[in-house]
Amino acid sequence: MAAVVLVGAQWGDEGKGKITDFLAQKADCVVRYQGGSNAGHTVEVKDEKFMLHLIPSGILYPATLCIVGNGVVVDLEKIIEELAGLQQRGIDTSNLRISRIAPVVLPYHKKLDTLEDRDSHIGTTKRGIGPTYADKINRIGFRIADFLEDREILESRFKAQVEYKNRIIREIYQEEGFDWKQLLEETLEQVGQLKPYLADTSYLIYQHIQEDKKVLFEGAQGTMLDIDHGTYPFVTSSHPIAGGACVGAGIGPTCIDRVLGVAKAYTTRVGEGPFPTELHDADGQILRQRGMEFGTTTGRPRRCGWLDAVVLRYAVRVNGLTDLAITKLDVLDDFATIKICTAYRYKGQLIYEFPDTTSILNQCEPEYIELPGWQQDISHATTYNDLPANVRNYLAKVEELTGVKQSLIAVGPGREQTIVNDQLYK
Ligand code: GDP
Ligand code: IMO
Ligand code: MG
Repeated sequence: MAAVVLVGAQWGDEGKGKITDFLAQKADCVVRYQGGSNAGHTVEVKDEKFMLHLIPSGILYPATLCIVGNGVVVDLEKIIEELAGLQQRGIDTSNLRISRIAPVVLPYHKKLDTLEDRDSHIGTTKRGIGPTYADKINRIGFRIADFLEDREILESRFKAQVEYKNRIIREIYQEEGFDWKQLLEETLEQVGQLKPYLADTSYLIYQHIQEDKKVLFEGAQGTMLDIDHGTYPFVTSSHPIAGGACVGAGIGPTCIDRVLGVAKAYTTRVGEGPFPTELHDADGQILRQRGMEFGTTTGRPRRCGWLDAVVLRYAVRVNGLTDLAITKLDVLDDFATIKICTAYRYKGQLIYEFPDTTSILNQCEPEYIELPGWQQDISHATTYNDLPANVRNYLAKVEELTGVKQSLIAVGPGREQTIVNDQLYK
């Protein structure tokens, strides 16, 4: 088993960075396949904390090849900044490769994201993600390689695009536009700086898979933020689900051996949109405080609620999960009792499948079961058997409700605070 896709099974921030870093100890290659600098992946090693946005969470291992795939929208300024930040901390970044055909996030995308969100109220990260993907689909975007090819063609396309975006910015929003010449020079300069990292990444990944090397695809965001399968329109503009790994890395589905869903032992969401198990009471406050649920990218407080097994079963379905990593189990340490949502009540009936429209979802009430808490510190547990009986009982219930084995369990943010039930890379 050599190629594993890691996906967020909820609304993002499940601890994908931590689990990726843990698995990267054994992986030869870690690949980001979608999203952009909207992602904020935290890795904690001893007393050091790293926040990664565009660079894969395997970067702390100098021998691991880290790839930013073609499906990632790349903010050149941000990735240069992130590289410099890592280098200043003594991290070797020479093993990074960035897809030459990745779409570029330009300053006008970020400006439009901010302006458009004032009306659409999605609560985006304002990182230009939606507008950049929209341009890609509309076939008017720029890929990194465009800035390395014919200057004349580039200039005329770039000028036309900036002028078009300026009309929207000025005429619809009465805001200031961009000087295309200056923007082009800045972008060319940034692409120049990144040149040593650029590669045909699909080919690199394929070579690794052919040689039976261990490849980890690091999803960003989460299943419920998927543009097609999430809680539309309150979603991101890419495919965080496992299928997105094939498109965003340039490999076929037959290359993938296992799909690992990362899920918190409760649920959080940042930004607007439906969230059936959201808590507005003291329990929600406890989850936010204990879990330190504040956004890694934007600092916004995350909305918190109980674990939703309907969401997890849906994640099992749309990702084809073979394994689960349960994270932040320690955050539940203080509760006398813990709830799990097992179904939704919709028009008086119990439903067990996640509804396919937001209008139905908005009319759903969660149905809970209540389990006894453990009220003790589990953050030092290193094996499954170290966990108190009530923790194992809780995990067994989650396994019964999802039908997927829990290969990894996280009891703290540190690399070593990870219990292994089943090795993903043998
Ligand atoms: P990601 O976007 O999925 O990588 O998750 P984030 O990094 O945005 O948010 C997860 C937060 O929880 C980070 O601050 C992690 O350091 C932290 N974290 C991850 N796993 C655990 C865990 O098992 N216990 C606790 N207490 N914190 C964790
Ligand atoms: P990681 O990878 C949590 C949310 C935003 C907003 C919606 C759309 O750290 O788990 P966007 O800027 O993508 O157009 O915003 O998606 N969102 C995230 N929520 N974790 C993330 O990434 C997110 N990336 C985007 O809050 O609701
Ligand atoms: Mg995050």
